[in-house]
Amino acid sequence: MSKGFTLWFTGMSGAGKSTLANLVAEELRARGHRVEVLDGDEIRTHLSKGLGFSKEDRDTNIRRIGYVCNLLARNGVIAIAAAISPYREVRDEVRSQHERFFEAYVECSLDKLVERDVKGLYKKALAGELKGFTGVSDPYEPPLNPELTISSSSETAQESLAKLLDSLEARGYISRQGVKR
Ligand SMILES: Nc1ncnc2c1ncn2[C@@H]1O[C@H](COP(=O)(O)OP(=O)(O)OP(=O)(O)O)[C@@H](O)[C@H]1O
Ligand SMILES: [Mg+2]
Repeated sequence: MSKGFTLWFTGMSGAGKSTLANLVAEELRARGHRVEVLDGDEIRTHLSKGLGFSKEDRDTNIRRIGYVCNLLARNGVIAIAAAISPYREVRDEVRSQHERFFEAYVECSLDKLVERDVKGLYKKALAGELKGFTGVSDPYEPPLNPELTISSSSETAQESLAKLLDSLEARGYISRQGVKR
């Protein structure tokens, strides 16, 4: 059985966390790993139902996701978290509970995020209709020392996926595939 770990995506809304989480999950499953994706949006509909977007509630949400990731990771699963997780301190707290943790910072310029506006939330936030929206009216604290930074403004999702797999291999989280894409 291969060793489990947590792959933690952090970044602002629309940066590409869910997109990359699902792409890498598919690839890792195809390579024979056991994988679970914990997506912030989905977690907020059950495990964290009722929590809001205050700092306290956001931190609670992240602690819960981190707790479940650790349970999975120590049982040989690759646990993939895709949640904005805007606060550095609680991300580092989750990291400290793990034996193996890979933080992938999905970086994207605000201009590009507003242009994408996948969920139509930036328009509302910029118009002042949404209070406490990360990156507009609420803080986002980028990681100081992530295992990988992905620049989703300037790469396609497939390019980002390739870089991520390379980095996971180079750092020994997964074994190298014989054939290089
Ligand atoms: N390099 C890239 N990596 C990931 N997504 C990309 C990239 N380039 C463009 N995109 C596009 O950006 C969008 C990212 O949306 P996605 O739902 O994955 O964001 P998210 O970070 O999960 O946001 P949220 O926090 O709101 O759930 C998608 O439409 C995706 O196709
Ligand atoms: Mg998402």
